[in-house]
Amino acid sequence: MIPKHIIDQIFETARIEDVIGDFVNLKKSGSSLKGLSPFADEKTPSFMVSPVKQIFKDFSSGKGGNVVTFLMEHEHYSYPEALKVLAKRYNIEIPEDEEMSPEQKEAQSERESLYVINNYAQTYFSEQLWDTDEGKSVALGYFKERGFTDKTIKKFNLGYNPEGWENLVKAAKENGYKTEYLVKVGLAKQKDERVYDTYRGRVMFPIHNLSGRVIGFGGRTLRTDKNIPKYINSPESIIYNKSQTLYGIYQSKSEIIKQDNCLLVEGYTDVISLHQNGIENVVASSGTSLTEDQIKLIKRYTNNVTVLYDGDAAGIKASFRGIDMLLTQGLNIKVVSFPDGEDPDSFAQKHETEETKEFLASQAKDFIVFKTDILSKDAQNDPLQKAKLLRDVVNSIALIPDHLTRAVYIKECSKLLDVEERTLVLELNKIRRKNDQDKRQKDERNQGEVYRDAPLEDLQITKVSVHVNENDLNAQESEVIRVLLTYCNIGVEKEPEFDKLGNPIIDPDEEILNAGTIIIAELLEDGFAFENTTFQNIFETVKSQLETEGQMDENYFLVHAPEDVRNVYIDCLKPGNELHKWDTKKIFVKTEKEKIRLAIESALLHLRSKRLMKLIGALEQKIKSGHQNNEDIMPLMQEKKKLDEVKKMLSKPLGIVIR
Ligand code: CTP
Ligand code: MN
Repeated sequence: MIPKHIIDQIFETARIEDVIGDFVNLKKSGSSLKGLSPFADEKTPSFMVSPVKQIFKDFSSGKGGNVVTFLMEHEHYSYPEALKVLAKRYNIEIPEDEEMSPEQKEAQSERESLYVINNYAQTYFSEQLWDTDEGKSVALGYFKERGFTDKTIKKFNLGYNPEGWENLVKAAKENGYKTEYLVKVGLAKQKDERVYDTYRGRVMFPIHNLSGRVIGFGGRTLRTDKNIPKYINSPESIIYNKSQTLYGIYQSKSEIIKQDNCLLVEGYTDVISLHQNGIENVVASSGTSLTEDQIKLIKRYTNNVTVLYDGDAAGIKASFRGIDMLLTQGLNIKVVSFPDGEDPDSFAQKHETEETKEFLASQAKDFIVFKTDILSKDAQNDPLQKAKLLRDVVNSIALIPDHLTRAVYIKECSKLLDVEERTLVLELNKIRRKNDQDKRQKDERNQGEVYRDAPLEDLQITKVSVHVNENDLNAQESEVIRVLLTYCNIGVEKEPEFDKLGNPIIDPDEEILNAGTIIIAELLEDGFAFENTTFQNIFETVKSQLETEGQMDENYFLVHAPEDVRNVYIDCLKPGNELHKWDTKKIFVKTEKEKIRLAIESALLHLRSKRLMKLIGALEQKIKSGHQNNEDIMPLMQEKKKLDEVKKMLSKPLGIVIR
């Protein structure tokens, strides 16, 4: 936990324009700064940064927030990570967590030591590659032969550990590093008293975590001897969790976000060659099948994955299970299979960037369609095989969380397999029911809790209709909240009353209230809660801030508020949002204050009208059913009459007709 006063200090010190300036080229535009959106591809700048308000707003993606939310969005840091990055940048010391136990502190410093030793080893391997005769002739020669340029080799920090038993161990010792740590990260091995290098005569591929620190290595042999392993990979350690790591994620993440697509390949060299070829949104699973954590890692950046296959049908079929897991996570998956004997690495080495891009674009097939295709080749004219194929394909479709997407696939596959849609839907529902049962049982076993019933049946969807709820108060509620947040702290006199001669009655003692107090008082008098819980939350927060502080704390909304609340607040700050609705020709207003008063009145009026309409509607329903059941509907009728009167009254002030 970072103490609140430090968080405040970070926010006070950090300049959003500096921090964002590292990522976006910002130009002055009025009182704000403008640039190209880092979240979308665009030609005209729609990304705004306000140094005065210390917020940003991206009009092409709709994202907005403060300096911390920017780092969270753009760099995918967690909240505390983003704060720590800023603290470091502005030399703000975060006091050591007193709650950390001595063991935790030790673990913390051990982690740090492991990072440090890996970093040292990486530097050492680079030096060996570039600056020694053996490195230059053997290792650099090998990389060159594979077509890697100097720039690429440096970008991926490739290196070389020379032949011999203790090159690294000796160098590390001489430089004051503990061999104990070398052993812990797997760079050295220990047998009795003897400590020796793990990677002898191997080219080294460092594996980076998200923030670019080296957490492990893959070392490739330069021999062709089939009896020695081609790669030796670091074992897991407290800094290297294989199932949560993807090779290349550090170098590729920004391009993955930009392209909104992640290419998934098998090997280190596939990632590297594609990068060199100008295709930089690519990560490798490093030869193993994907894990759920790796998928979650991808999902932080994009929902679209393209799996690049090399190899034969058997290999492809073996990978289907892994891809099914991607489906379960709601990712959209395409696949590209390479021609016989080619893999992404060799293809990228042989073709120009444009050709590779063109190839990927033209070959990308939807996974479900691809799977159906491959399997149906086996099933030709074999009814038993065909039934199995059907189940296989529907099994995959059943894993897709979104029911509309499922419906689309059912349609598609019904065509591909020449099977009636109904049959597929029946099978689908059966599988989903079974999966759900399995999950329920598993949940019960795990937590002893009862699983909430979820709607299961998939309908045959041919037309998608959007259901609009006429009773929805969202628009009216949101306008009241907007006015509340925008003008809360501005003082507004009450509307003056006039004497018989038409002169305003001026009471010198009358207190000038701020807009927030007026709105809150009016809302309290109505006695309704907001239907939208975020709005209700904002209402209550403002109310209590006004009661205790006398005004609304802007910093709370920008910095400390929960995300949903913060987003509403930031939306209110959109340039040009202020009063735009009331600068119309119809309503003539003289002063800013009058405009605000009008904005308040109108927002409240619309909300009240809509609430009223809802009440009347419900009452009419009651009257109707009461009438059918021969009940006494007189009291209901009277109540409705009252509400109708209110409706008439409400419709006067602005000449708005309530429908
Ligand atoms: N792999 C491994 N151990 C092996 C073979 C493979 O860990 N003995 C992993 C590596 O992460 C490798 C990936 O599986 O990158 C893919 O294997 P492969 O295609 O054989 O290796 P490439 O990276 O393509 O290497 P090269 O092109 O040099 O053969
Ligand atoms: Mn290869």
